[in-house]
Amino acid sequence: MEELYSEDYEKSARKVTQKGLRRLIATELLPNGAYAPVKGIYDIGWREWESLPAADYVRELRRLDDELIKENETWILGLAPLVYKGELNLEQIRLLEFESYINANDTLALRIAAHAFDNSKNREIRDIILRHASEETGHGELKADFLVNAFGMDLEKDIWNGTSALEDYNRERVYLEGTNEALKRLKKASPPLAYAIIPFLERCLPRLDRMKAEGYRKQYGFPAKYLTFFDLHTYVDIYHERLGLYVIGKYATTRELQDLVRDAVLASRENRTKAMMALYNYISRYR
Ligand SMILES: [Fe+2]
Repeated sequence: MEELYSEDYEKSARKVTQKGLRRLIATELLPNGAYAPVKGIYDIGWREWESLPAADYVRELRRLDDELIKENETWILGLAPLVYKGELNLEQIRLLEFESYINANDTLALRIAAHAFDNSKNREIRDIILRHASEETGHGELKADFLVNAFGMDLEKDIWNGTSALEDYNRERVYLEGTNEALKRLKKASPPLAYAIIPFLERCLPRLDRMKAEGYRKQYGFPAKYLTFFDLHTYVDIYHERLGLYVIGKYATTRELQDLVRDAVLASRENRTKAMMALYNYISRYR
């Protein structure tokens, strides 16, 4: 039986319709036709967060985070500066990317989506969260492609069913940024702000992945077709930071909430620093 919609139909309908829709709708649409959760937030140069009630606080928070990143660059940027300089050997890179797959890339969409239930009555925030979660879905598989192509790992056996060495290297068990006390306090006070910490912290990722993309090319000679995850993340998290800026700018309107947000950012960055130091110690055994 002939398929109802042929591949040619899909191709041309999507192309022609999208082109037409773009003329009618000023703001960006997903390929499936959904609006961006906040009008224009995925457009180049969006700065509307600057007119939100807590914009000054958001500016201050970004400056603070810039400082934290600068002081702990190697750790907060997930060892990317070492990749950039070619200081890790191939086995260390395999371990680094595998651990980041297991502990971050593979679980991020779920960690985000879990916040939808705490915000189910807040239509705007709920939709921001679900859209964000959907965009993180499948990014883990791009990272898995790198591990398969560059290191010959088996997707099902070694990656999906592989085990993290977390217990070995992470004495503080602080890897997951979602588990700190400051975040729990923030969640009690404001579920939207507790979610917003995740996309806000993603602001370091475009730089991190740009360093990795360049390091993997220049220092290790990996071909472009292995590097989709890293190339894509040189820009996608520009938009995810914006989701954080928007929610914080809108909701962090009291001194009390601002203090809780700052505590959550500080604790999360500190946890990441400790965890990446511990991961570095672990991979240092593989000289
Ligand atoms: Fe992201």
